[in-house]
Order: sequence, then C-alpha cells, then structure tokens
Amino acid sequence: MAHLFDFNYSNPTQIVFGTHSFAKLGELIPPEARVLLLYGGGSIKRNGVYEQVTQALAGRRIVEFAGVEPNPTLETLEQAVALVREQGVDFILGVGGGSVSDGAKFIACAALYDGDGWDIVSGQHVPRLALPVGIVLTLPATGSESNVGAVVTKRATQQKKVFYVPPARPRFAILNPQVMASLPDRQLENGIVDAFVHVCEQYLTYPVGALVQDGYAEAVMKALKTLADTFDQRHDNAWRQNLMWAANQALCGVIGVGVPQDWITHRIAVELTALWGIDHGRTLSIVQPWLLRELIEPKRAKLEQLGRHVFGLAAPSAEDTIAALEVFYRSLRMPLHLRDAGITEPDAADRVWQAVQAHGNAALGTHAEVDAVKTERIVRAACA
Ligand code: NZQ
Ligand code: ZN
Repeated sequence: MAHLFDFNYSNPTQIVFGTHSFAKLGELIPPEARVLLLYGGGSIKRNGVYEQVTQALAGRRIVEFAGVEPNPTLETLEQAVALVREQGVDFILGVGGGSVSDGAKFIACAALYDGDGWDIVSGQHVPRLALPVGIVLTLPATGSESNVGAVVTKRATQQKKVFYVPPARPRFAILNPQVMASLPDRQLENGIVDAFVHVCEQYLTYPVGALVQDGYAEAVMKALKTLADTFDQRHDNAWRQNLMWAANQALCGVIGVGVPQDWITHRIAVELTALWGIDHGRTLSIVQPWLLRELIEPKRAKLEQLGRHVFGLAAPSAEDTIAALEVFYRSLRMPLHLRDAGITEPDAADRVWQAVQAHGNAALGTHAEVDAVKTERIVRAACA
C-alpha cells in the first residue's frame, strides 16, 4: 500500500504580507546591523521601491550593491562579497526577484568562506554558517524568498547550477503585492508558469496517498490557472495578492514533504538559459510537455488526477491532460519548443544534450528511472 515517506520539516522564514509591509523593515533588521542593500538592474529605482525601502531604514548603516543580473553570475556576486568583507557588512537585504534573492543567499555564505565561491555552488563546500538574509520580493515566481535553494551561473563556463544553503534561508520575506504594478506582462506570465511547474515537480510523479499534499498542490495549481484565465485583471490588488502568495507556497517546501519529487524539467531547462539566456519560466514550458510525453506511463495516474482536479476535465486520459497543459501555457504566450523562443540553430539540440551530459544530468534516478536514452529523447524532442 502506498504511503508517505518520513520527513522533517521546518520553514522559519517570517512572511510579512501586504500593502503596509515595508513599514516593518525597521523592526525586522537589528538596529546595529551594517546592511548590504542588494538589488538588480535598477527597476527598484524606477518604481519607487528603493525609496520606500531606504525611507523605512532611514538612519541605518547601509552599503549598496547594484547590478545583480537576471540569472546571476558568480563573477558579479563575487564583487559584492568583496564589498561585504571590506565594509564589515553583517546583514544582507536583497530587494528584487529570484535572481537577487539567490544572489543574497550566495553572498551570505561566500562572505564567511575563504575558499573559491564556486565550491559553494558546485556542492564541494557545504556552508554551515551564513550572514543573516532578508528579502523584499519584487517578482513573484521562484519562491526563493523563503526556501533554501539558489541558482548561480559561472559566466566563464556557461554553467548554471542549483545549490542548497539552509543557513542562508531568509529570516524574513516582505511580500507587498503593490510592487508588482511595474512588472511587464512577460514577467507575470513567467511567474505563473514557474510556480506551476514547481508544483508539478513535487506532484506529478506517482500517487502515494498524500491527501493533504495532493489537495494543497491542486489548490495552488488551480489558483495559478485561475490567474492565467483572469489575466486581464492583473492590475487588481486581489489578482496580485493571489499570485504573490501562490508563487511563494509553490516552493516554500510544504507541498513536497513526504512525497516523491521530480526536478528533471528544471535540470534540463537550466541549460537553455545558460546557452541562450532564455527566461527561466519560458525554458520550463519548452521542456515540460515533451518530458511528460516521454514519461507518460510512470506518470499516467498523476496526469489523470491533474486533468480532473486542476483542469476540470471529466475522465481525462494522460494525453488529454498534456494537451490541456499546452493550451494553458499557450494562453500565457509561452514557447512550447525551442524554436518558439527564436532559437533555430541546427545544432541547438546537440549543444543542449552535450551540456546536460557534461553537468551530470543525463541519467537521473528519480521515480521514473530516467536514463540517458530517455533524457536525450526529451532534449531532442524539445530542441531539435
Ligand atoms: O534587475 P531589475 O532591474 O530589478 O529587473 C528585473 C529583471 O530584469 C525585473 N523585475 C523584478 N521585479 C520587478 C522587475 N521589473 C519591474 N518591476 C518589478 N517589480 O524582472 C527581471 C527578472 O528578474 P529575476 O529576478 O531574474 O526573475 P525571477 O524572479 O524569475 O528569477 C529567476 C532566477 O531565479 C532562479 C532562476 O533559475 C533564475 O536564475 N530560480 C530560483 C529558484 C529558487 N531559489 O528556489 C527556483 C526557480 O526554479 C529558479 O530556478
Ligand atoms: Zn523554477
């Protein structure tokens, strides 16, 4: 009889949600802290977030580092680590989306490590200590604001890698849906799809009788589907509130406890960003439907459940659910093949496949026993 796995769960990130949440910053950061204010390419200067954050921290000792790029690079983050050391910073405040949040976690660990920063990303060094991190979220998508994951790219070798740093889990995350007003539609679309696929990676495996996890995963996916169906209401506060909370819940850890997980879509998709800079959310819609077609048998029961409970289909086949998923992604103007993202190089699939192998992702021992033959078929279907 199927049953849950044992698990050990704690998520201590304090979530401060709502329109007035910036006012809490002063209470959340110790008054004596020397704070690194970390941000990206400047959206926060244009939309008033920078001003609100610095006003809430008036009189505090603040050092700024700007220029964390989307899909942050080791090369840039190491400059911030040098600044942290030079200025005696002891608190990292990231103001941005997943890229800034992930960068903040890396910096918090690397500042306390004397070796090469890539050791942390590659898993050669597992940090036990980190400077405290807080996040002001400006883009709901990744869930990075309250989880222990991070993704950093080494520009020199075009390697984009996920790593886990529990000591750098944010102490707090400020979720103020008003910051979403300046987000381009494309980032909202990416956010819905990224969050949806995060739930899939923790749900779309095989049934283990996890009534609570399945029910909650389906509730989060239904919310995301409703937000896509009501995309014309994206300027309403309620729409924004729901996306911000749904994206957080999709990858805060709670729906994945005690159930099998499958992160192969993500592990293949990172290569599309590393090679061509494609937005993270869009790489997922390119890879996932092909992966599901390849793994349709081991995932059949869960695909049927997804079709019934999330897409509202009566007695769907697994094939029907994959078709509904594609309609959903298309409704958000997502690419469903590499060529839809404008990449038409004849050797594109070869390059992706080489990178997947080089980075140790060709054969992944998940529930579906995805060997190199299956992985190559997925890559070639999505990219050739
Ligand atoms: O850099 P600025 O100028 O701030 O502009 C950003 C950036 O260009 C802009 N933006 C953010 N908030 C805005 C805004 N523009 C206007 N108004 C606002 N309020 O949006 C662009 C994209 O930002 P980014 O942070 O890169 O996007 P996202 O949140 O999607 O993060 C993507 C990164 O997170 C990683 C991805 O791989 C990628 O590197 N992920 C992290 C995960 C985690 N830590 O758990 C899980 C995910 O699966 C994902 O892999
Ligand atoms: Zn993701």
